[in-house]
Amino acid sequence: SKGNHRHYMLKEIYEQPIVVAQTLRAYLQRMEEQVTLPIPDFDLSAIKRVTIVACGTSYYAGMVAKYWFEQFARVPVDIDVASEFRYRAPVMEEGGLMIVISQSGETADTLAALRHARSEGQTIAAVVNVPTSTMAREADLLLPTHAGPEIGVASTKAFSCQLAVLAALAANLAKAKGKLDEAEERRIVRHLAEAPASLNAALAYDESIQAMAGVIAAARDVLYLGRGTDYPLALEGALKLKEISYIHAEGYAAGEMKHGPIALIDDAVPVIVIAPSGPLFDKTVSNMQEVQARDGKVVLISDYDGIQAAGDGCIATITMPKVHPLIAPLVYAVPVQLLAYHVAVAKGTDVDQPRNLAKSVTVE
Ligand code: F6R
Repeated sequence: SKGNHRHYMLKEIYEQPIVVAQTLRAYLQRMEEQVTLPIPDFDLSAIKRVTIVACGTSYYAGMVAKYWFEQFARVPVDIDVASEFRYRAPVMEEGGLMIVISQSGETADTLAALRHARSEGQTIAAVVNVPTSTMAREADLLLPTHAGPEIGVASTKAFSCQLAVLAALAANLAKAKGKLDEAEERRIVRHLAEAPASLNAALAYDESIQAMAGVIAAARDVLYLGRGTDYPLALEGALKLKEISYIHAEGYAAGEMKHGPIALIDDAVPVIVIAPSGPLFDKTVSNMQEVQARDGKVVLISDYDGIQAAGDGCIATITMPKVHPLIAPLVYAVPVQLLAYHVAVAKGTDVDQPRNLAKSVTVE
């Protein structure tokens, strides 16, 4: 049931602190401050490269994970959308780990990619939310997300749980490959363990997000910008907005703006900038200022420090709790989900059953 919530989507956004905690419990030993896998003796030490394949929101979770696998485990990562993957003669060498990510575990293109990788001798890990699904059954290493049933067609809680599992998997791979010392492992466990509380803190800004939804609801086009792991978040924000509010939206890497899309900017195009304070902040802010110099209406999503530093001249700001960069993608998922939700409600669209979309895409 939807409980007190008006839509399943909103209920599922609000469930994130609990389901992320539930998911992390299967991958972290809090007492020992260690990361683990659901199959504790599954050997990842021979993995030399990683291929990630998924569709839609699950693909964006994979894009975030690529940064983590490279940073922690120092293994090369190849990533593609499932419908493109098989048709480009991908090179899959010995010692390859194929990670499929899927809420339903039934998406036809992703399943076909899994089977192709299997035939090429890859080890298969499946990050899935439905434990009885086809992908779950066909994987060597089943990595469940414990998000519970997701009813809203727009994926929300499955995404944050996918990120939690992928962060833990990246740490496990790094550990297996001797790239993670104990102190580092403890730090990762502590940061991940903070995610549920930070998600709660992010949800506390719901009303302020709702208050500014009208400005976005009136727009014809919306751009989302981010850099590093905030780039996939920008893509996810744009996908959420277009699928439930039917407003045209695009996500871009912040640094790509000046290579074309900046031509679109005028005072009718809101630009949502996702920029937690940190090492990438100044670079993203300078891209944001390029937008403002062309009369673009910027909404800045950052923490208190970021908004103090760069909030002037924005049409609105959304304040997030200050979080470690590792969990920022989970936490910043909340405002982009809530923004899309409130814009759709303001427009009066069918939030839980958007037109033309199905929850599970079982045709290629
Ligand atoms: C977006 C959305 C879709 C799915 C995609 C993959 O909100 O729900 O883009 O993420 O169809 O579905 P799964 O994860 O079930 O493979």
